Amino acid sequence: MNSTVKDQTRIAESQSAGGGLAQQRSRQGAQVAGACKEWRWERLIPKRIVIETIYGCNARCHMCPITLPEIRKPEIMPMDKYSALIDALAPYREQVKMLDLFGLGEPLLDPLIFERIRYARGKGFRGLSISTNMHLMDAVKRRAILETGIETVIISIDGIKKETHEAIRPRTNYDRILDNTLGLIRLRNGEGYKTRFVIRFIQQPRNHHEWEPYREFWRQHISKDRNDLVLCYQIHDWTGKVDENVGVNPDRQVLDESLEHVPCHHIFEKLVIQANGSVSLCFEDLYDSPFQFGNVHAMDPIEVFNSPRFNKIRKLHLDGKRKNLEICNGCSVLTNELLRVEG
Ligand SMILES: C[S@@+](CC[C@H](N)C(=O)[O-])C[C@H]1O[C@@H](n2cnc3c(N)ncnc32)[C@H](O)[C@@H]1O
Ligand code: SF4
Repeated sequence: MNSTVKDQTRIAESQSAGGGLAQQRSRQGAQVAGACKEWRWERLIPKRIVIETIYGCNARCHMCPITLPEIRKPEIMPMDKYSALIDALAPYREQVKMLDLFGLGEPLLDPLIFERIRYARGKGFRGLSISTNMHLMDAVKRRAILETGIETVIISIDGIKKETHEAIRPRTNYDRILDNTLGLIRLRNGEGYKTRFVIRFIQQPRNHHEWEPYREFWRQHISKDRNDLVLCYQIHDWTGKVDENVGVNPDRQVLDESLEHVPCHHIFEKLVIQANGSVSLCFEDLYDSPFQFGNVHAMDPIEVFNSPRFNKIRKLHLDGKRKNLEICNGCSVLTNELLRVEG
């Protein structure tokens, strides 16, 4: 057995320790996904919107498609186009519960990120978040992000040891990230800012043994009273595109199979907009984006979300045929939601 397979087997064994996990989780999965079965072709308003304000990154994480051969060119959404998009979405702000300002890229590389957060909040949007690798979160940016009033900052750290984190996330420096993260938490706590932090660990063969000490460490620094979280997600392979580090997880395979006819709630709930304005099927479609349902800089974003082509795919999911789509066949996102662990 090679070491990747051995590692993944150990992950699976530890996750299966409670017994019957696959059956229990697949029942939960069916319940969760069952919610979208109610849909009868009526106009959908997204509950969650992802706007990728920048496509481009300072890091080269092994499990991220940003490391794959370049298909999209690095770019930043111009501010005038971004504000027009927010204005077009503003009438739906009560229905939109979450607004994520990141896609495939590092939001702190976007010089307009703080202005964008303020703009969206000024238009009444709530539930804003960014996810960041923290490498660029210096003292000035720490204050700037908290001053925006953003609700959630997701902090991506993938090890408790410097060598583990840096092996997974090349071009980042663990000591600097640790200082930046502890500094951000101290500033928030000391000055009473409202932002919550989610410290997120993507579990994979290189770091799976570090989850327990990681959870212990970060638990001591976060604040449950402020709704902070430490989260463990399983790595996914972007539908086979970055599979070399994923290996075989038997527990996940069982779950994937038990969910393969379940419609994916993301395509009913989430509007995903690339830095160039093009609408993707989902977050997992951000790398090569075969779908491109329309461009929000030229069309109404809600119309694009409800386009006949998009609806045809929803229907395919509802008919239990999502396996017919290359991107959805073998996608482990629903499974990973069920395997998610909170620290
Ligand atoms: C694509 S990144 C963009 C935001 C930012 N650069 C960061 O790293 O947080 C968003 C999230 O996707 C996660 N991610 C990247 N590749 C992944 C994979 N193969 N499986 C699961 N999560 C992944 C990252 O760890 C990060 O938490
Ligand atoms: S920091 Fe984020 S966007 Fe950049 S390579 Fe890593 S996971 Fe991808």
